[in-house]
This record gives sequence, structure tokens and C-alpha cells, in this order.
Amino acid sequence: MFDVERFVAECRAARAEDPTHKAVREVLTRALEQPGRVLKGLGEPQRAEIQKIYHAPDLTILNVVWGAHMTIYPHNHRMWAVIGIYTGREDNIFWRRMHDGRIEAAGAQAIREREDVPLGAEIIHSVTNPIQRLTGAIHVYGGDFFAVERSEWDPEWLTEQRYDAAKTMRYFEEANVRSRSTT
Ligand SMILES: [Fe+2]
Repeated sequence: MFDVERFVAECRAARAEDPTHKAVREVLTRALEQPGRVLKGLGEPQRAEIQKIYHAPDLTILNVVWGAHMTIYPHNHRMWAVIGIYTGREDNIFWRRMHDGRIEAAGAQAIREREDVPLGAEIIHSVTNPIQRLTGAIHVYGGDFFAVERSEWDPEWLTEQRYDAAKTMRYFEEANVRSRSTT
């Protein structure tokens, strides 16, 4: 059985022993060996949302549920992250800065159930859930995800602006409205 409290304790211990993402990633990789247990432990995803599992200055753990076909615009985190999928899929586009302040696509990675990927502190990514049902992912960040000053990029013009957490939450709610209108 996946025990959320034990998972948090293991991530905290890993973060304390290793300031990089590596030890935390091992904890996440181990948990994802049995994604069905993670699903049971966290509960079947019901709606697009960001659930806070743990939050401290040096570590944030989130349960991120992506709506069907939902895309979040490019953004950075300015701290390392490890993302692991316990149900569904994520497609990540990675972006790099250009001289004019905009960004261009630099790579992509498809992530599926049981897989996890580390993201460096300077990574800029956008995320799509490419499937017709909710995707559930555990996101672990090596800092205070909610406090750090960071950026997002306009999805149409790819220009940089200050990250707006309230806007992100609206995106998740809009995904829920869309799914209610199609079911
Ligand atoms: Fe992100």
C-alpha cells in the first residue's frame, strides 16, 4: 500500500541527505513501480486540480491532476523538480530562451505511467495531457514552489511575463468546466 505520510517522510529524508534531485527521485521511482497503489493511496483523480501534499521552504510535493487534453503554457520553476506519472500521460515541450526575450521549442518528452523525469532548475516547459481522461502525476520540487518568483510565457506570443499562480488555477478550473460540458 502506498502511504502518503511515509512517502512524504522518505522524500524529506532524501532531501535532507542530498540537496540535488537524485535521492528524491529514487523515492519517487520506487513508489511508481506500483502505480496502482499510488492511485489507491492518493485516491482516484476526480477533477483537474493541484493538491498540495507537502510544502516547506526546501521541498514541495504536489499531486497534479491534468484535465483531458489540457495544456498548460510554458513556465519555469527556478528549482529542480522530479515529475512522475501514476496514471495517464504527459507530453512535455522544453523551451529555450532566444535573444529577443521570446522562447523557442528545444525538445520534447513523452512520459507515461510508471515513468519519472527530472527537470533542472532552469528548465522552461509546457505540459499537455494528450488523452481523453484525467492524468495523475506526483511533482516534487526542491524548494518552495509557491513562494519563488518565476516566469510564464504567453501561449500565443511566447513572450515572458511574471508567473501568475491564480491564472494557473483558473486554467485547471476551465478544464473542469470543459469536461462537464462534454460528458
Ligand atoms: Fe511545471
